[in-house]
Amino acid sequence: MKTSQNTVLITGGSAGIGFEIAKQLSAKNNHVIIIGRNPERLQKAAAQLQNVTAINADISNAADVESLVTTLINDFPKLNILINNAGAAAGLSDLLNNTDTFERASIEMQTNYLSIIRLNEKLLPLLKKQTDAAIVNVSSIVAFVPGKLTATYSASKAALHSYTQALRVALTDTTVKVFELMPPLVDTEFSTEIGGHLGIPPSQVADEFLAALETDNYEIRVGNTEQLYQLYLSSPTEALNFMQARKS
Ligand SMILES: NC(=O)c1ccc[n+]([C@@H]2O[C@H](COP(=O)([O-])OP(=O)(O)OC[C@H]3O[C@@H](n4cnc5c(N)ncnc54)[C@H](OP(=O)(O)O)[C@@H]3O)[C@@H](O)[C@H]2O)c1
Repeated sequence: MKTSQNTVLITGGSAGIGFEIAKQLSAKNNHVIIIGRNPERLQKAAAQLQNVTAINADISNAADVESLVTTLINDFPKLNILINNAGAAAGLSDLLNNTDTFERASIEMQTNYLSIIRLNEKLLPLLKKQTDAAIVNVSSIVAFVPGKLTATYSASKAALHSYTQALRVALTDTTVKVFELMPPLVDTEFSTEIGGHLGIPPSQVADEFLAALETDNYEIRVGNTEQLYQLYLSSPTEALNFMQARKS
């Protein structure tokens, strides 16, 4: 997949991993459209980028998505890469003591899984018109091995992982390639509660993502996600135990 002269939509492009990807893509002569809920944060991010359009929207809100899709179809008919990066973790899971797990899991499933299905379905007709297109779903290291402190978040990323694999198969005979970006712990605002300062910088995720995009490496296991994946293949039980010894 070419890594310049694309029109790229990045949900959650105003901070963290999404912002780093936006920065690298905009510097490589791609037009980047960033989405976020907080308008001040979004404008501040856009001011640091070239070739950028900022659109204020909440991807878990049906009306916002409807209006976003109409804008994209009318104003960006060449849109050819959709990066589903925005995600939610509704606090730490304590499956023994919490009494609001259903509510937390609902937020996570809505943002990390169902909203992505909706946006993909609405944008696929436009993406399929392009000669070279891609959908990139950002899941996580916990998509195939859950952490007990992130139980319901992990489950939402596992759902996204499963759907992404099936989507890739479904789109085999189209021009749309399907990538999955699986970061390990990354040092962003998102991961503060789970020791994110021990994680890799978001710039490393963006570096590995661009290299994988260029070489059509569809399952992008960033940093030590690859090691955990290999352990999981040799022993799912050992991988599960290893994950519980970590904070995330
Ligand atoms: N950080 C990690 O350790 C880690 C590890 C593995 C995977 N991930 C995944 O990587 C992705 C990005 O995480 P991050 O660490 O970069 O998070 P972050 O630094 O908190 O940035 C999240 C971005 O998404 C936007 N956003 C959040 N909810 C949104 C919504 N409903 N609609 C539109 N925009 C929304 C935020 O802006 P607003 O708040 O203004 O909307 C912000 O731009 C997520 O899917 C996360 O699950 C993160």
